[in-house]
Amino acid sequence: MEVSELPRLTVIGTGYLGATHAVCMASLGYEVLGLDVDARKVERLASGEVPFFEPGLPELLAKALDSGRLRFTTSYQEAAEFGDVHFICVGTPQQPGSDACDLRYVDASVSDLAVHLTRKALVVGKSTVPVGTAARLADLVRELAPAGEEVELAWNPEFLREGFAVDDTLRPDRLVFGTTSEWARERLASAFKPILDHGTPVVDTDLATAELVKVAANSFLATKISYINAMAEICEVTGADVRDLAQALAYDDRIGGRFLQPGLGFGGGCLPKDIRAFAHRAEEIGVGQAVSFLREVDAINRRRRSRTIDLVRGLLGGRLDGARIACLGAAFKPNSDDIRDAPALDVARTMHGLGAHVRVYDPAALDNARLAYPELRYGESALDVARDADVVVLLTEWSEFREIDPAAMAEVVRHRRIVDGRHALDAVLWRSAGWEYRALGRP
Ligand code: UDX
Repeated sequence: MEVSELPRLTVIGTGYLGATHAVCMASLGYEVLGLDVDARKVERLASGEVPFFEPGLPELLAKALDSGRLRFTTSYQEAAEFGDVHFICVGTPQQPGSDACDLRYVDASVSDLAVHLTRKALVVGKSTVPVGTAARLADLVRELAPAGEEVELAWNPEFLREGFAVDDTLRPDRLVFGTTSEWARERLASAFKPILDHGTPVVDTDLATAELVKVAANSFLATKISYINAMAEICEVTGADVRDLAQALAYDDRIGGRFLQPGLGFGGGCLPKDIRAFAHRAEEIGVGQAVSFLREVDAINRRRRSRTIDLVRGLLGGRLDGARIACLGAAFKPNSDDIRDAPALDVARTMHGLGAHVRVYDPAALDNARLAYPELRYGESALDVARDADVVVLLTEWSEFREIDPAAMAEVVRHRRIVDGRHALDAVLWRSAGWEYRALGRP
């Protein structure tokens, strides 16, 4: 296929997923138009600024803009006229006050696009949605589009991890194509041609399976994390060491060591809301029992946050109020500025609510944290927030925290006490520098 024969792509929604997809597809040689209803976001992207922290993306955005293959707009009409394949990349957050998925952005973007589709086109959902959504949207698109039956819908779930988004998009483990016709399958394949040419495995399937793959994958990952954290709870009362336990499990190829890091548990814009939405959807369609364990996975994960606070309280002799606490980390994981459902900020806010003087530092997420939680106090470096602290708590395992010299930090704190919420530090090193060191699931 010549480059000129590649389909023209639009990417609707330019958040973490959509912006990365748009930039990567342009870098692969496609003509791409990114759309967002947020004019400010469109302006920033068009001027070469990535509105969030993602390693490698700013450089790739600059190149894509220079190539002339990537543009941005707020107009659905322009997107409909331009594109042959339209990727829906809008958010599907948790509904306020419910575990259900909030589909308002997906519904709005698909409808707003469809009413302008006057010729044959493929609409491809990438957002994470409850099973059954794609079939409903396929009907909606046909009903609303002036081109009617000419417009088809496919589902192509996205598995990118924040912090590795560029690599995961350009070199995915696998592609999943949920389609209802041979034309749609071929069109989707043409929209991923350079990636398929690398030999990337493809699973060709129906719409419902494609939707389910994503929530099944995230549920499995969440379960693996909560499994090792449940073992940490057992270790805590038996004097066993969950780090050694995890290491021994990881040597078994059948189990594997990835997503087996014990600690403060999972957060972010995906895992927590996806397992809740999955459990909720399963209950709606009468198979709630099949995934009722996900409620337990969620409960184990939430307990990690309160147990971390227990460790801090323990080091302080039972009282949090009035204590000066240095929190290292705000992002839900390192190499990200995302604070959605961040365990770190949840712990910091709870301790603040219990009367502690909390100061927070994070290498990338401070601006987001300040905006969302102005009641907390923030500092400019790890040593800055540790000044005069009664206890230091590591909540996100940024590599700059792993490299902290315990002797240097000892100089500024009031008391040498540290809770390692992510098992990121060398306990022997810190203890030998005179620190009282505590970590979940370790003696
Ligand atoms: C996740 C999935 O990995 C990705 O495939 C999906 O598309 C979106 O959701 P992401 O939210 O970027 O990606 O984060 P991920 O790297 O998966 O980490 C999720 C959370 O689990 C983080 O809070 C992390 O700190 C935690 N985690 C991860 C652990 O607590 N232990 C582990 O062993 C691994």
